[in-house]
Amino acid sequence: MINYLGTPKIETDRLILRKLELKDAQNIFDNWLSDKRVADNRISPAHKKVSETMERVAKIVSEYDSKECCYWGIVQKGNRELIGEIDLYNFDIATNNCEVSYSLGYNWWNHGYGTEALRVVVEFAFKHMNIHKISAAHNVDNPASGKIMRKVGMQQEGVIRHMIRNAKNQYKDCVVCGILQEDYIKNTASEQTFILNIE
Ligand SMILES: CC(C)(COP(=O)(O)OP(=O)(O)OC[C@H]1O[C@@H](n2cnc3c(N)ncnc32)[C@H](O)[C@@H]1OP(=O)(O)O)[C@@H](O)C(=O)NCCC(=O)NCCS
Repeated sequence: MINYLGTPKIETDRLILRKLELKDAQNIFDNWLSDKRVADNRISPAHKKVSETMERVAKIVSEYDSKECCYWGIVQKGNRELIGEIDLYNFDIATNNCEVSYSLGYNWWNHGYGTEALRVVVEFAFKHMNIHKISAAHNVDNPASGKIMRKVGMQQEGVIRHMIRNAKNQYKDCVVCGILQEDYIKNTASEQTFILNIE
């Protein structure tokens, strides 16, 4: 059974993962949601107006009332800058499986933050939520996302042709990756690598 814990605060070496707040909307818009370089790798188009971001953040914030909402903002520890987001979603009670997705602002790409955030969310999901399997898919032309999946132990399971159609009306083939709880437990040290703050 999945042990839903909501969106607790999680602290890693360089990052804090925390709930999003309404007042974050401008930073989210500025740092990644309005940026085509980020949006090109996501399904939804870049936001043109901050009001679109406000609406999206308001929806996420309203979902925090449910323990089934696992949606973190990714914050740099030193300067408290909100640099991205990561979430667990599509929880399936028949299998205890779920999916993960993430985005970082362009200014913070290739500094290891994506790997650090994904690694800790995978650890949290397996050790604390009892998730059975985590899956994710990335466009074939988004190797950085595939790289961080592999770095945290996710394996490529196949390529789905024309899995998505993006904002530019282009169909994209996607690589589907996954990691099983049993493999994670077998292959990873049991010592917890993060500080967890459940309210
Ligand atoms: C995917 C994403 C979260 C990665 O975050 P990040 O912080 O840049 O990732 P990291 O720095 O931890 O790791 C990136 C890895 O990809 C590699 N990489 C980057 N660009 C690459 C490219 N064009 N080809 C091959 N590898 C590449 C980097 O070298 C690094 O690997 P390394 O640590 O072995 O050197 C970020 O690029 C992003 O937000 N992209 C836009 C949104 C998105 O794609 N979301 C996921 C949708 S599936």
